[in-house]
Amino acid sequence: MTGDRRLVSAATLSDSELASVRAIYESAFPEELTVPFADLLVDRLLVRVEHDGPSGFALVRDLGTTGWTFLRYYAVGRRGRGIGSLMWADLTERLAAEGRTRLVWDVEDPDEPGLDADLVEEHRRRIVFYERLGGRLLPVRDYFPPHDDGHAPALRLMDRALRPGVPDVDVRALVEGVYERRYGVPPDSPVVRHTLVASGLA
Ligand SMILES: CC(C)(COP(=O)(O)OP(=O)(O)OC[C@H]1O[C@@H](n2cnc3c(N)ncnc32)[C@H](O)[C@@H]1OP(=O)(O)O)[C@@H](O)C(=O)NCCC(=O)NCCS
Repeated sequence: MTGDRRLVSAATLSDSELASVRAIYESAFPEELTVPFADLLVDRLLVRVEHDGPSGFALVRDLGTTGWTFLRYYAVGRRGRGIGSLMWADLTERLAAEGRTRLVWDVEDPDEPGLDADLVEEHRRRIVFYERLGGRLLPVRDYFPPHDDGHAPALRLMDRALRPGVPDVDVRALVEGVYERRYGVPPDSPVVRHTLVASGLA
């Protein structure tokens, strides 16, 4: 491996490397946003490996035949050292080379009522991080995909075209596609309808 091209499939990792990825995962996210580590392996786990082991990972799922790829989790072990930005370049180049057209992901909503000031700040910084890397905060409101434990955190949707010249996305189709193919919620569900109406998309 040379330069920044260090993103490998989890299937190629040793047990101890996989344990390092698990440790990054478990320390990066609050419990209510996580599922057991083994459950991640239904999707594609791409890991950044450096000379001293895994330094970050991205968990992605292609959304059917749409050409869109959903980013389920994205985290690094040591923050604020540029690793997240380098890994992003590798991830987006790789997906583009595979012919994917758009990356889409959730972020926690900094405007959620009643949120502590430190969490508001953290959620804002995360959005700024992604915006600096070309991400766009979509004009989608009241987006509450249900999580496995039944609780539905307030989230926002972001996206980024993976190649220049890709036609802009139909936001309604994107919302419906994510609900259905990421969360298993069909387009005629009241939850989806509510999001579309609140966002002026229905
Ligand atoms: C978000 C994350 C992947 C960024 O990776 P990173 O290597 O720290 O980022 P870089 O060093 O390339 O860039 C630094 C920027 O990342 C963001 N950032 C850094 N630490 C952060 C933190 N604790 N929380 C939120 N954003 C952070 C900020 O925008 C920061 O820029 P700033 O210092 O000017 O505010 C990393 O902080 C992380 O793993 N966080 C925990 C998991 C997570 O929140 N994942 C995203 C949601 S799926």
